[in-house]
Amino acid sequence: MDNVVDARIESLMNSDPSPAATAEPLLAVEGLTIDLTGDVAQPGLISDVSFTVARGESVALIGESGCGKTMTAMAILGLLPRGFVVSAGQIRVEGRDLLTSGRRGLRETRGRTIGAVFQEPMSSLNPTMRVGDQIAEARRLHLGESRRTALVRAVELLDRVGIADAGRRVRSYPHELSGGMQQRVMIASAIACDPSIVLADEPTTALDVTIQAEILELLRELRTEQGIAVLLVTHDLGVVADFCDRVVAMYAGTVVERAGVDELFASPAHPYTRALLDAVPQTSDPRTILPIIRGRVPAAGAFPTGCRFEPRCVHGGDERCHAPQRETSMVGRRSVRCARAADGESVAVPAVV
Ligand SMILES: Nc1ncnc2c1ncn2[C@@H]1O[C@H](COP(=O)(O)OP(=O)(O)OP(=O)(O)O)[C@@H](O)[C@H]1O
Ligand code: SF4
Ligand SMILES: [Mg+2]
Repeated sequence: MDNVVDARIESLMNSDPSPAATAEPLLAVEGLTIDLTGDVAQPGLISDVSFTVARGESVALIGESGCGKTMTAMAILGLLPRGFVVSAGQIRVEGRDLLTSGRRGLRETRGRTIGAVFQEPMSSLNPTMRVGDQIAEARRLHLGESRRTALVRAVELLDRVGIADAGRRVRSYPHELSGGMQQRVMIASAIACDPSIVLADEPTTALDVTIQAEILELLRELRTEQGIAVLLVTHDLGVVADFCDRVVAMYAGTVVERAGVDELFASPAHPYTRALLDAVPQTSDPRTILPIIRGRVPAAGAFPTGCRFEPRCVHGGDERCHAPQRETSMVGRRSVRCARAADGESVAVPAVV
């Protein structure tokens, strides 16, 4: 008997009790590859994208226009436009593979476990429906609440996202609200069913600066008070530094670097990430000439066969750059898709103008 107890104690002592060691990430995207099919077929438009978001964490998806941030977000939501198909990879939410969960499973996850906020609230809100009914509908659909109960909750949610006089506003139509208020309604809708994660694709780009700050503050409160994780698609590296725990940098449909926000800003490992950071003003002097990244993101279908960044990379030309690049794990939770960086060479020096 003593031996059994000793063995149990030993096994408990040897086990790692931290949730991080045992728990499946809230969101795990693994090897996601998206093809455009049809007449203008583009296989591998999005290629081998992997990242995770833990409970309560905020992860930024960054990269220039056309790098595949929205496409990746849409795949997670099961909302890819017609003609786009996931040809490889997995998207697991709370351990469930979304890609094999069928249309119903996907609908249940979207709205219930994942809330979504887009750049243009008017493209997501129904112009013919009162905002209260739109929020209440999600609770009726996912939680089976009565119309009356769901409407009471809609008022509470509008109040929660900072809409004054929520009892009256619940009966407004979207066009009767300002842009900032519409975005608050969108957020209320996204959190209506107490999701574990909110996916926000440039949620503040269409708003003026003061409202931007208020919306970000609201998302921050949702994180700290309700433990909601956030996957934030943004071009604003100031917001990334201020709001996010980790960063996923995308270039031409691939992930080029993943790192904690502090280590990424202190020492980017990939030449592209370095160039992105260099393009951010470090001074308030408007006369400062910022470095720009020469060239442009290649159009889909015109990707180089080797490293997708090589035509723009000042460190290109090496034989290793001519081969397709794979993601390599570095120290800590960092990874980089650059053979030279993976070999320990200092390629992220500021040299692109
Ligand atoms: N409806 C579409 N039909 C064909 N190609 C598309 C469509 N939407 C996006 N693409 C292509 O898919 C690729 C990824 O686009 P995506 O919209 O995901 O970029 P993004 O990183 O979100 O850019 P942005 O920062 O401008 O929002 C790009 O090459 C883009 O041209
Ligand atoms: S593999 Fe070569 S071309 Fe690509 S990012 Fe690294 S150094 Fe630049
Ligand atoms: Mg986008």
